[in-house]
Amino acid sequence: MPPMMEKIHKPLLAVLKKQETNRIPFWFMRQAGRYLPEYLEVRKQAGSFLNLVYDSQRAAEVTVQPIRRFGMDAAILFSDILIVPHALGQDVRFEAGEGPRLDPITSDKDLLKLNLDDVENKASSVFETVSLTRQKLKSEGFDHCTLIGFCGSPWTVICYMVEGKGSKDFAAARLWALSNSASFQKLVDIVVEASCRYLSGQINAGAEVIQLFESWAGVLDAAEFEKWVIAPTQKIVKYLRTHHPDIPLIGFPRGAGVLTKDYASQTGVDCVALDQMVPLAWAKENLQHDITVQGNLDPVRLLCGGEALEHQTHEILGGLGTSPFIFNLGHGVIKETPIAHVEKLSNIIRAYKVSA
Ligand code: CP3
Repeated sequence: MPPMMEKIHKPLLAVLKKQETNRIPFWFMRQAGRYLPEYLEVRKQAGSFLNLVYDSQRAAEVTVQPIRRFGMDAAILFSDILIVPHALGQDVRFEAGEGPRLDPITSDKDLLKLNLDDVENKASSVFETVSLTRQKLKSEGFDHCTLIGFCGSPWTVICYMVEGKGSKDFAAARLWALSNSASFQKLVDIVVEASCRYLSGQINAGAEVIQLFESWAGVLDAAEFEKWVIAPTQKIVKYLRTHHPDIPLIGFPRGAGVLTKDYASQTGVDCVALDQMVPLAWAKENLQHDITVQGNLDPVRLLCGGEALEHQTHEILGGLGTSPFIFNLGHGVIKETPIAHVEKLSNIIRAYKVSA
């Protein structure tokens, strides 16, 4: 049998390579995290969140924790999208109960503070986490499990770099983009280059799939979306296709609404991840003919459990489960989510048989 025809035994990888599977692969965004007591324990030992990310042994351990409990089809590298600005030399802190804090980049002259030459060096322990996680998954017998590497997409990462913290509308980044698009483009180019290096490092260390998180796609109008979401994503996809042609790419343009269709057809990703606002029938009709889709259970339904969880899970499986599909949430697991609800959801998806 020629190598291209070889059957892939990992269901998530198989779906991304357009092979048939008899079961829907699943994983959950933020599946490693504060809803798990074993995560909280390791997090405490590490001290701060960044210490945990840069401690390869502990980061590999928390990456594998949810797989032991729930048997997902993918583990996602334990890291953060703000490791790229940190590797570029920006000051990044995570303050307890307050989320991320960065010394904001506000003008052209601040760009001189960013240094691309050190990115791989500063992120080297993250690459080490990837290779340790691959070893751990193998030694613990999780042969079905695919390891996903990731980064934030440039627009989303820049939202935090410019605002210096979370925000509901990221007005500072939008204002810079609108008022001086030439200097904003320079910042985008730096983050594109840093992301390509960071992702290449993860792939060389053993990441089998990459997800690009564009969590703040939804704050842009259509013209700005084209310029700051689609164009930079195309550059990263092109780079990865050239240097790592076998690695499938998932893009998550959260909040993009109808623009998800342009994102899916123009960026070149293999799979588009959907938030819970995207109607299933729309996704089937407009996306699934051409591209694998991933999504999109509301994390609040997972928090709620019971009928709210089960009904919509069956709707999603029935609506999207016959064509190339990966079950996921529409956004990350909420930290108050009961473990029993995650177990229940995992069991429903695992038991669902794809009809021919
Ligand atoms: O299990 C996984 O999904 C892997 C790890 C992961 C984390 N962050 C760990 C984390 C991933 C994939 C991310 C991505 C990330 N980080 C995104 C994109 C996805 C999204 O949620 O929209 C964004 C926007 C960030 C930036 C970020 N990191 C914020 C806004 C926060 C604070 C909010 C919060 O939930 O506390 C973080 C911190 C963070 N990243 C935590 C975790 C587990 C919580 C920190 C802790 O344990 O104290």
